[in-house]
Amino acid sequence: MLRRNTRLFATFIKLSADRTCCHNAATSPVQPKSKLDIKDGPGLSHFLKDSHRKNKIFPAHADTHAYISTEELKGDGKKVMLTTFGCQMNVNDMELVRGLLLENGYVETKDESEADAVLIMTCSIRDGAEEKIWNRLKHLKRNQRKQRTVAVLGCMAERVKSTLLTTPGNLCQVVAGPDSYRDLPRLLALSRSGTKAMNVQLSFEETYADVTPVRVDASSKTAFVSIMRGCDNMCTYCIVPFTRGRERSRPIDSIIDEVRRLRDEGVKQITLLGQNVNSYRDTSESSISLGVHSKMVDGFSTVYGQKSGGRSFATLLDHVSRVDDEMRIRFTSPHPKDFPNDVIHLIKQRNNICNQIHLPAQSGDDGVLEAMGRGYTRDTYLSLVNHIRNTIPHVSFTSDFIGGFCGEREEAHQNTLSLMRQVEYSYCFVFPYSMREGTRAHRKLVDDVPEEVKSRRHKELTTLFREITLKKNLSRVGTKELVLIEGRAKRGENCMSGRTDGGIVVHIDREEKKIDIGDYVVAKITGATSQSMSGEFVSVSSLREYEHDLN
Ligand code: 5AD
Ligand code: SF4
Repeated sequence: MLRRNTRLFATFIKLSADRTCCHNAATSPVQPKSKLDIKDGPGLSHFLKDSHRKNKIFPAHADTHAYISTEELKGDGKKVMLTTFGCQMNVNDMELVRGLLLENGYVETKDESEADAVLIMTCSIRDGAEEKIWNRLKHLKRNQRKQRTVAVLGCMAERVKSTLLTTPGNLCQVVAGPDSYRDLPRLLALSRSGTKAMNVQLSFEETYADVTPVRVDASSKTAFVSIMRGCDNMCTYCIVPFTRGRERSRPIDSIIDEVRRLRDEGVKQITLLGQNVNSYRDTSESSISLGVHSKMVDGFSTVYGQKSGGRSFATLLDHVSRVDDEMRIRFTSPHPKDFPNDVIHLIKQRNNICNQIHLPAQSGDDGVLEAMGRGYTRDTYLSLVNHIRNTIPHVSFTSDFIGGFCGEREEAHQNTLSLMRQVEYSYCFVFPYSMREGTRAHRKLVDDVPEEVKSRRHKELTTLFREITLKKNLSRVGTKELVLIEGRAKRGENCMSGRTDGGIVVHIDREEKKIDIGDYVVAKITGATSQSMSGEFVSVSSLREYEHDLN
């Protein structure tokens, strides 16, 4: 389907030199139907070399009929294997892809050897993430037993683009960026006809609001719901704004429909997903007149223009949390620079919105924060944390940190360690800085922290946050927690595990007691490590009952 803002390029291309080892050339029943003489036309390499390099879609939609008929666009029972690398956003994107392909007549397989197409959802956030994908592509090539298409989707597709198609070895035949999943049936059909195909056009509007995602595990009691796509923040180290494009919000009504559907399927916990959830704005027609400007936390300045108009994240959270008061609601990730007061008050009021906030700090040093373009200082971050803690006393914080960013001196690193000590996070994700080509840091800053120093700082940050989480988890021994049971624990048949309101994993021995996945269980905490806690079963309960007993 063509999107309104999608610019089309009418350049005609065909496979020529690149087709030499292309799997389908000889065997595909589908041959190009072009009246154009493809032997004389420009080839893929020609196309990529020349002024057309900027083309984001090829072959152009208008030229598709030259290769395949409408009939051949259908999946017709062909088998696809779907593999996901990277973050939860990618898992969610693969659910959309699964939905779109199943609707188009494809069938999913877990068996690589029988797949007609292998689709890989990719991540570009750090160099190591892309390295893994290249290894996967080489593995697929080595183990190829039958003619098949390999498609690279998502962030790496958007970043690396046609180089994925032209790298020697014919590792991949289809490239589709994060806003092109609707075009997959066409791209896959083109590949079956022997034509390498790519669509990396980003969109200002695509939210896949009308696509029903299909989860890998339909029986899971926890689900993620994407509320927006892209990011406008342009943190200097981050590739995401370039791979996922401009920020746009999915209309509230479509989000609520999905949450209701998941509730009807028995889901007990929803996590709202977006790169910067608290700048969510539903500006679709039904919302435009309802605009309210969320008031920011006092004293918290921002270098970014605050978005206004339409329905805000607080309104969305309000609606989502009203769908079912026995369904836990979480969200990830908000940006500290625009954390509105009304969201803090809503979390306090609503029993089913978890008192856990992922508040990525990235660094505890003003100079580094400035170089990262984060829009806050250590002090404003800390005043936000204090303000939230004063409003919601039992709130727990988690965070992301980057060690060894450009220009980070030892003192700056010490400031990050001291921020960790001060906030006492209940969990942290710590990453060594990885310079990404094309980012603002790549253009303007020098990646001057030696690898061994990055790695040492990464280790120190990890060791410290683990010490803090161990202390925090041990301090809960003897208390009671309400745990939403998510599944069987790996440690044994009779052990179930789930999470507290604060997001900590608890393993519970069920003995003869009947505990089911999706139950809320009151557990007495008996032990703790830095990663999880163990508890004794007390009773099966509910959010309402537990809250009542606490008061
Ligand atoms: N290098 C290291 N970590 C990064 N992140 C984003 N970009 C980079 C990079 N270039 C981290 C940030 C972000 C998380 C999702 O990944 O901490 O919050
Ligand atoms: Fe990247 Fe910053 Fe956007 Fe997060 S908020 S996705 S770190 S640019």
